[in-house]
Amino acid sequence: MSFRSIPKVELHTHLEGCAPPAFIRGLAKEKNIDISGIFDANGGYAFRDFDHFLQIYEAACTTLQSPEDFRRLTMAVLEETAAHGVVYMETFVSPDFCGGGDLAAWKDYLAAMVDAADEAEAKLGITLKGIVTGIRHFGPEACKPAAKCAVETFGDFVTGYGMAGGEMAGRPADYAYSFDMAREAGIPLTCHAGEWGGPSMVAETIRHLGVTRIGHGIGAIDDRALLDEIIEKEIVLEVCPGSNVVLKAVGGWDAHPIVKLRDAGVKVTVSTDDPPFFHTTMTAEYDMLNRTFGWGEDDFRAMNETALAAAFCDEDTRARVAKRLEPAQ
Ligand code: ADE
Ligand code: ZN
Repeated sequence: MSFRSIPKVELHTHLEGCAPPAFIRGLAKEKNIDISGIFDANGGYAFRDFDHFLQIYEAACTTLQSPEDFRRLTMAVLEETAAHGVVYMETFVSPDFCGGGDLAAWKDYLAAMVDAADEAEAKLGITLKGIVTGIRHFGPEACKPAAKCAVETFGDFVTGYGMAGGEMAGRPADYAYSFDMAREAGIPLTCHAGEWGGPSMVAETIRHLGVTRIGHGIGAIDDRALLDEIIEKEIVLEVCPGSNVVLKAVGGWDAHPIVKLRDAGVKVTVSTDDPPFFHTTMTAEYDMLNRTFGWGEDDFRAMNETALAAAFCDEDTRARVAKRLEPAQ
């Protein structure tokens, strides 16, 4: 069976990372930008490893230069995501790629994204919320304007603050200032950790940044006491198995710790991260979880309920989306 039609909640995507390669190629052509080196012979994104992935990602982002580009991107991404049964999606967006961290520019980019999200919601029935994101390898200072953008635009669409990028750049405490800013404004928090780092990176992220969700978090598997802390604090993991397999954070689907995490009692959810980069979709993730671990409709329903409970949205949205997850009578 195909799991395409199951209504899904997806918490961990990067808006620019969802850009289909053809979309980025089209923008590059319009603007006369030569980024041919980022594609393989089949037209897909080409990268060797995680650091190279980040370089290719940033090269693709150089084609996204205006609010209108982000409006078109948002619409293209939501059309593709909705086609895989996703009814609620959260996406990381970085002010660094939307006007270089400038607040006035960010507001213009944001307005364009909200415009597209509203149109997609009316046409396709998919709800999108944004998580403003600092880029870790740009350093702690660069994360401060990103957090300021989150604080100044927190509301109906901007519902969270987070940090992505090269995890091994510094320690979590180095980024505490921006997370403190966001927390003091009442903004829900998540942070990539334990994608590449071990248990100590996850533990420090929880303790120093005060997040309620962790992006990936798979590195926690090696520390039973940390798993107990994650369970006790009800921290939810945004697990992206296909991403981890392609980037070689794990040895393969068989070796992925998502089952062990779930069996240990951790709240796990599943997302695609940057689907075209990893040749994945939410349907493909569910298919692989089914084939590799035997997960079926009941597992997916429970997981989507976990994801919705952890979503950074308002309660009206949560209640509305909950109805979409109910099995058809
Ligand atoms: N930005 C986009 N995808 C990412 C990932 N998998 N890890 C860290 N930063 C990212
Ligand atoms: Zn990610």
